[in-house]
Amino acid sequence: MSATTSIRPPRNEADPVLTIDDFSVDYLGTHTTHAVKNVSLTLGRGEVLGLAGESGCGKSTLAYGVTRLLKPPALITSGAATFHSREGYSVDMASLSGADLRAFRWDKVSMVFQGAMNSLNPVIRIQEQIEDIFTAHRPEMKKAERVQAAGDLLERVGVDRDRLRSYAHELSGGMRQRVMIAMAMALDPQVMIMDEPTTALDVVVQREILDEITRLRSELGFAVIFITHDLPLLLEISDRIAVMKAGEIVELGDAYNLYTKPKHPYTRQLLASFPSLTGERGDFIRTGVRDARLEEGADAPSALSQAAEGLGDEPVFDAPGTGMPTTDAAATDESTDTRGRGDDR
Ligand SMILES: Nc1ncnc2c1ncn2[C@@H]1O[C@H](COP(=O)(O)OP(=O)(O)OP(=O)(O)O)[C@@H](O)[C@H]1O
Ligand SMILES: [Mg+2]
Repeated sequence: MSATTSIRPPRNEADPVLTIDDFSVDYLGTHTTHAVKNVSLTLGRGEVLGLAGESGCGKSTLAYGVTRLLKPPALITSGAATFHSREGYSVDMASLSGADLRAFRWDKVSMVFQGAMNSLNPVIRIQEQIEDIFTAHRPEMKKAERVQAAGDLLERVGVDRDRLRSYAHELSGGMRQRVMIAMAMALDPQVMIMDEPTTALDVVVQREILDEITRLRSELGFAVIFITHDLPLLLEISDRIAVMKAGEIVELGDAYNLYTKPKHPYTRQLLASFPSLTGERGDFIRTGVRDARLEEGADAPSALSQAAEGLGDEPVFDAPGTGMPTTDAAATDESTDTRGRGDDR
């Protein structure tokens, strides 16, 4: 593939599944923080949109704002988020409340929360926690169907279905994270917002999970907003990347272009802050696992590998890990509701 070929053809901005328009969020207080400022974004159907930016720039606040999970002192001061269903209707997320909003969050737009893997209920087996989602949202399902579906979900994310009988503490961090991702996928959502879903994990596990997400996205067609401060990782998995700084999107573009021709000084600074992505320094950690996807032909090459190819650098990196905790999604609707971002900070 030539360096000029666009690897991941933009997946349909023209067919958006989510539009965020002029979205702003403040945290009120003696010093009001303007955490998100006039953000506009379009997420194409089936697209992986990376959201990058340093700690505190407002990534999680944007995600929680869009999904209406913020609690006071957070206040949405402007804007709208609209979901465009594949069935052809659109929903202004602000128009939803109560049970409708909870159903919507699992069914249409699901989230894997920052720190999620620690939010599985410790005293309830995994099976019951997954089954709870079906009991609440698919009441027509019979017990045997729920158990079957729960096992299928685990297998889908690479966890043996025997683990249904396990408690959270019996699982590794990587497995817990996979369980959270499985739960977020339970009802076949059209959008998954993943806030630092792999950050707490070592690079190898992180890579495996990212591969799963990429594969499942291809299979199931959901769109992803993938949030992390780890820009190299986003270059690996995203179709487009939005770079956020101090509450604003300062650059948004095709992952490959953003990597090879960053326009905003902050994007350049972010790129420069990571060790060499294409050779020299950083090879050791980045080439260890290497682009298994390419070797297996699983998906299109990443912006990084494409760029590396174009530059004639043979090594391509693996996604560096910076792990970070994630989720929440878990067991019940209520847990989703009460663990808004504001709660745990
Ligand atoms: N509950 C809160 N009350 C007051 N300020 C908050 C609250 N939550 C977040 N903030 C502030 O809002 C800004 C954005 O925070 P946010 O958590 O959205 O950043 P982030 O980009 O997700 O960071 P990280 O990468 O560390 O997760 C920060 O200045 C933060 O201090
Ligand atoms: Mg965050």
